[in-house]
Amino acid sequence: MIENKNRKFFIETYGCQMNFSDSEIVASILSNEGFEASDDLLTADIVLLNTCSIREHAEDRVRKRLHYFRSLKKKNPGLTIGLLGCMAERTKTALMEVEQLLDLIAGPDSYRHLPELLGKVDSGQKAIDIILSADETYADINPIRLDSNGVSAFISIMRGCENFCSYCVVPYARGQERSRDPKSVIREAKDIFLQGFREVTLLGQNVNSYCWNEGAETMNFPGLLEQIAGLDSQLRVRFATSHPKDLGSELIKTIASYPNICKAIHLPVQSGSNAVLDKMNRKYSREEYLEKIRAIRSLIPGCTISTDIITGFCDETESDHKQTLELMQEAGFDSAFTFKYSERPQTLAADHYKDNVPAGVKERRLREIIELQHELSSASNHRDLGEIFEVLIEGESKRSDKQYFGRNSQNKVVVFLKTAQKPGEYVNVQVKRVTSATLIGEAV
Ligand code: SAH
Ligand code: SF4
Ligand code: F3S
Repeated sequence: MIENKNRKFFIETYGCQMNFSDSEIVASILSNEGFEASDDLLTADIVLLNTCSIREHAEDRVRKRLHYFRSLKKKNPGLTIGLLGCMAERTKTALMEVEQLLDLIAGPDSYRHLPELLGKVDSGQKAIDIILSADETYADINPIRLDSNGVSAFISIMRGCENFCSYCVVPYARGQERSRDPKSVIREAKDIFLQGFREVTLLGQNVNSYCWNEGAETMNFPGLLEQIAGLDSQLRVRFATSHPKDLGSELIKTIASYPNICKAIHLPVQSGSNAVLDKMNRKYSREEYLEKIRAIRSLIPGCTISTDIITGFCDETESDHKQTLELMQEAGFDSAFTFKYSERPQTLAADHYKDNVPAGVKERRLREIIELQHELSSASNHRDLGEIFEVLIEGESKRSDKQYFGRNSQNKVVVFLKTAQKPGEYVNVQVKRVTSATLIGEAV
């Protein structure tokens, strides 16, 4: 431990919120062993890239970044460079063979071993640990909040995924689904509230299937959500992601009954066509999905619904695409993340189906989806004109030091002239103007 003193590490994170949360776990593990977290890449002794494999583009970005690291290592041959996360798990030793500059490879379940792995690198060896675990949840690790605004924090409540959507690399990169002990989740939420944070986002690939058994006692996701929401009415609770097949009425009722559980649900639909959904192995139909949307809209008035859409999946026809556009209209999504299908090696789709929608068609379909979503988002924001929302202040607006920005419960960004309140406090704001991305208002 002493010998690690003054050795600085820098973590660069790609991918989803869970990866950002993992980087905070890595920072904690290394700090406990005497290493020091640094936000300056150029003076760090150890550089770790926590990577994502979800689309080819995500991996390409990392490969490009490694070229830059090569120049850093030329200047400083003592620099240790490590690859962490999903791309480390997926590509195993392949990248190390091509990119001789990598000293260390650690998959998402190997972070406890990082101090030993770094020791191995110090003794002149390459270090690799990509063993996935059935039970690692890092429950006892107290994450170090990196890049924090001091207001909102992420808490991982489960790891892995076993849904095997046919396009998706996550089950291979992250392994078996496992839930974290609720006591440790509640402890972490309490801790961060005491530190002044006012918003937690509970994270998992499919939070609806959260399940913890101890003796005769079981905790499901709505139960956990209630416990966290019950800690303090000043603590906002969000969560991501919900798989539509597992979103039930108990969860909808729980969200409706706690004012501090945010009225925003991220419910990735992926496609509006039953043929495509079937091929994607999503295990719900377009009709079932729309039924859930109706239930949310009727039981949680004012709740926003966001989604993920993949366009150009294998065999997707023009009629399938039209059905996606129609479903978007019918669901009236408030916002959406939209992607062109990217074939991932080793997945069910890569093994069984042809990536046969031409690139130009994928692009045009994506454009149509983005244009429609732009209209839907803009309509959603226009409906908020004149409304008064409780906004949790996150910080100074990027555009002007005279303005604050924050979010309302519906997860929309709200910008307004500064008030006497500080970041981390709540203020009521009336919406005066809107763009398709932001609400602009005045404190009332
Ligand atoms: N667990 C979440 C999603 C995690 S990945 C869920 O099931 O909804 C985030 C999003 O990336 C997915 O919802 C999907 O829209 C997109 N995605 C996943 N694999 C992809 C691929 N191979 N090509 C394009 N987009 C993909
Ligand atoms: Fe991937 Fe499907 Fe799991 Fe989401 S639920 S992470 S899309 S396999
Ligand atoms: Fe990417 Fe892994 Fe997250 S593949 S999206 S970093 S779980």
